[in-house]
Amino acid sequence: NRRVRTRDLIAAKERGERWPMLTSYDQYTAGIFDEAGIPVLLVGDSAANNVYGYESTVSVSQDELLPLVRAVVRSTRRALVVGDLPFGSYEEGPAQALRTAVRFMKEGGCHAVKLEGGRRVAPQIAALTSAGIPVMAHIGFTPQSEHALGGFRVQGRGDAAEDVVEDAHAVAAAGAFAVVLEMVPGEVAKRITHELHIPTIGIGAGADTDAQVMVWQDMAGFRTGRAPRFVKRYADMAGVLAEATRAYADEVRSGVFPAQEHTFD
Ligand code: KIV
Ligand code: NA
Repeated sequence: NRRVRTRDLIAAKERGERWPMLTSYDQYTAGIFDEAGIPVLLVGDSAANNVYGYESTVSVSQDELLPLVRAVVRSTRRALVVGDLPFGSYEEGPAQALRTAVRFMKEGGCHAVKLEGGRRVAPQIAALTSAGIPVMAHIGFTPQSEHALGGFRVQGRGDAAEDVVEDAHAVAAAGAFAVVLEMVPGEVAKRITHELHIPTIGIGAGADTDAQVMVWQDMAGFRTGRAPRFVKRYADMAGVLAEATRAYADEVRSGVFPAQEHTFD
């Protein structure tokens, strides 16, 4: 019943076992996902959209993410909790990255950090790794660079495949224990997965990565309307919660709730 370790994930790859990863930002979901056996939880900077209501991940700060990291760590016993370093907190170089990552490990209590980028952040990954901080890399489509990448689009099609493959090798060589591949063609993700000794975690990267990650509200059907192609809804939480809310509101308005049983003598 101990915490999952990064070496467990590498061992799973060697055994050919796939594993699921989800985001989490709060106590209840963290506890449920932990009990359900999700081995890795990411307190993503996607909290920008999914908790704070920003339009972009670019807006969220360390001070906004750290309390969520603490909540998820406190609410889990088994999962390895990864804290996502927000935009602007590591790009300046290894020294800035180390300051931020130390804060996430100390104040957030997480067990690893994640940052976006391939070759360009290899020095940061190497610095954190040699300071004893496990790093999950994130390449392909990297939401924090949305504006530079020209919007939400698949990365690594055609000739650009070599770029993504080189990024993958660079982050592995710098010491990352795993790498997220976001929105890259399935064949490119498959090749990277075969070439790297560390686990690949796909989101919109096909079926051949070692692991999969999804934003939990997408997985649970909280978000209504058009979703990206890589989202599958496993429940209709938006519908369930809307129905419960309407029932509660109706009963308050009609006087059905609270009843005698909910009332102190
Ligand atoms: O912030 C996030 O949710 C992520 C995952 C989708 C990988 O970075
Ligand atoms: Na993220």
